[in-house]
Amino acid sequence: MGSIVVIGEQVRLRTIDTVTGEALTELAVRGIYDPSWQPFGVPWTDDAPDEMRRALPTFYASTIHSAVPERWELPMAVEHEGDLIGFAKIQASDISASGRFSTGSWLGLAFQGRGLGTQVRRACLAAGFKGLGAQSAHTQANANNAASLGVTRKLEYLASGHFELEIRGEPMTKLEFTMQREHWREEVWREDFTLLGFEPFRTFLGLSVEP
Ligand SMILES: CC(C)(COP(=O)(O)OP(=O)(O)OC[C@H]1O[C@@H](n2cnc3c(N)ncnc32)[C@H](O)[C@@H]1OP(=O)(O)O)[C@@H](O)C(=O)NCCC(=O)NCCS
Repeated sequence: MGSIVVIGEQVRLRTIDTVTGEALTELAVRGIYDPSWQPFGVPWTDDAPDEMRRALPTFYASTIHSAVPERWELPMAVEHEGDLIGFAKIQASDISASGRFSTGSWLGLAFQGRGLGTQVRRACLAAGFKGLGAQSAHTQANANNAASLGVTRKLEYLASGHFELEIRGEPMTKLEFTMQREHWREEVWREDFTLLGFEPFRTFLGLSVEP
């Protein structure tokens, strides 16, 4: 897939290598949220630190290596002023046919609530819409995840559905949102992200036309 970098004024996203995967794991071990609740559908942060240290770096590497044009995830490390502060990903199935991609992210606790999550989401949107020429972006959050929903509200996504799931044995509603390319171009994009490595990525995905 090659190396991808998205450079903004406040955040820099880049493909995860082995060393970064280990550093990201330590950031996650230090805490992503109050352990009394769980924002993720797959509750990987409930694992013991040693299990996270065993599983996470391998998970990042295998996610990158198992990518095929029909179905891929691009996990990226997020930096702010030279510090590693979190994780972001874009992913898609059949993007060449659907024009659709999804985003996800987390920040270390110390870096939350300062507007950086919004900048990370904007960087992911730039990657998908500008870097890959996508037509729509999608995101999901648990109904009780005020911070993630705050980012989604701020960027004015449209509600597109919901489904029920169980988290820690309790019922939870997952809310779904979408953003069309026109909204991104008119309301979100501000020419403030530099994208590197997207041409080979587009070729890998069969998206050979410059967006
Ligand atoms: C979700 C997450 C990435 C958001 O990043 P963030 O840097 O904390 O969010 P921001 O500071 O950019 O805030 C965006 C908006 O949400 C609001 N917000 C942030 N945290 C909030 C909270 N706990 N409660 C209510 N609103 C909140 C902010 O006020 C802001 O809106 P405003 O500018 O209109 O005031 C981050 O909080 C995080 O990593 N959380 C834990 C992991 C997680 O939940 N990941 C997402 C899974 S779907």
